[in-house]
Amino acid sequence: MSSVEKVTIPSLIKMKKKGKKIAMITAYDYPTALLVDRAGVDIVLVGDSLGMVVLGYESTIPVTLEDIIHHTKAVSRAVKRALVVADMPFLTFNVSIEETIRNAGRLIKEGGAEAVKLEGGEEVKHVVKALVDAGIPVMGHIGLTPQRIAMYGGYHVRGKSVTVAKKLIRDAKALDEAGVFSIVLELMTAEVAKIITEEVSVPTIGIGAGPYCDGQVLVFHDMLGLFERFTPRFVKKYANLSEIILNAVQEYVKEVKAGEFPSEEHSFYMKKQKYEKLLEALGKKQEEEEK
Ligand code: KIV
Repeated sequence: MSSVEKVTIPSLIKMKKKGKKIAMITAYDYPTALLVDRAGVDIVLVGDSLGMVVLGYESTIPVTLEDIIHHTKAVSRAVKRALVVADMPFLTFNVSIEETIRNAGRLIKEGGAEAVKLEGGEEVKHVVKALVDAGIPVMGHIGLTPQRIAMYGGYHVRGKSVTVAKKLIRDAKALDEAGVFSIVLELMTAEVAKIITEEVSVPTIGIGAGPYCDGQVLVFHDMLGLFERFTPRFVKKYANLSEIILNAVQEYVKEVKAGEFPSEEHSFYMKKQKYEKLLEALGKKQEEEEK
């Protein structure tokens, strides 16, 4: 059996120090997680983007803790090398510290995640600290945080004004002080992401935050062309799987309707003698011979 060098929180911190880039991607099921782990990603996130790209909701708001636990179980059964991080859905944290710790604990104990991610800056500093004190590693997430999309009024790039830029830098520093092991920077100007990356001790993982972050994350379905409702400008499409799947399924439908599938190659037959015996037993031998 070949041995894999497991990605750990200390190894991610070391990567930042050595200037080695971190590759993170989302996954929500067993076969996808097997593939992305085999492809060499460092972190697999069971993101609440699940709600939009897998469950068909309009936003991430309806996603429940049970949804994330269910999908994290599948992902953690597959992943051998990468660090598995599970997202904390809207209002499963920050209602009370006790409830936050209990919910995060379920993602680790039942889901099999190695860490949790939660959205927010200065305002969740006390929550992050409580989780870290309870022994639960936390990844922060600032910038355009989709759980607060209604407050921003849309998916606009953050950090274009000096006021917002300063607030984002304060958020990142607060999370660093609270003990996060990494911070996702979503949809913000590259300059602000660069300053944050230089000023915090932990790796920054960008998504629509330019090239200066310590690592990058993309949503699996976006980068493979599996989510067609919209594609943000920061997403690079590495493949168009929708087209491949559509063509394949259309071909299947055509062959079934034309009686071309299954062919001999995909069918199983009895030994001739046994078949004849069966026909005889059923009184059908005569009929068959007359055909
Ligand atoms: O839910 C998610 O997939 C995320 C990533 C976009 C970072 O939070």
